[in-house]
Amino acid sequence: MSIERTFAIIKPNAVQNGNIGEIITAIEKDGFTIRGLRLTRLTPAICQGFYAEHVGKGFYPELENFMTESPVVLLCLERENAIARWREVMGATDPAKAAEGTLRKKFGESMGRNATHGSDSPASAAREVAYFFNAFDLA
Ligand code: TYD
Ligand code: MG
Repeated sequence: MSIERTFAIIKPNAVQNGNIGEIITAIEKDGFTIRGLRLTRLTPAICQGFYAEHVGKGFYPELENFMTESPVVLLCLERENAIARWREVMGATDPAKAAEGTLRKKFGESMGRNATHGSDSPASAAREVAYFFNAFDLA
């Protein structure tokens, strides 16, 4: 295993519900180092670029409405095995299927409003970190 970086989003519903602090606490307690952190609101164009692989799918319009409805927190997280580990900490995409104790189980409301994002591979992590953070934003 090696030290990796991954990209995470605290999605609009989790920000609205006041869960930023608990999610960041979970990130720190699990041994991740935060290398980048920013609050912003996505525009439709930024969302389309980010979720390029999903544009055109049936669920995409609803995903875009959700992701752009209010601010999000963007994070670059570093840890041994960060990409796979962050997806474990989040749990399954559908909160109803996510394991007890996972963030999507705790803070997700539905398949769409599932509280957090995590990169799914080294290539995605590199693309997603670079999509939102420039070198000066990363510590
Ligand atoms: P996806 O990349 O498949 O899931 P993950 O976030 O676990 O990598 O999908 C991106 C987001 O799109 C997902 O977090 C929630 C939403 N989504 C739906 O609303 N319906 C669906 O059927 C799928 C597959 C995803
Ligand atoms: Mg994905």
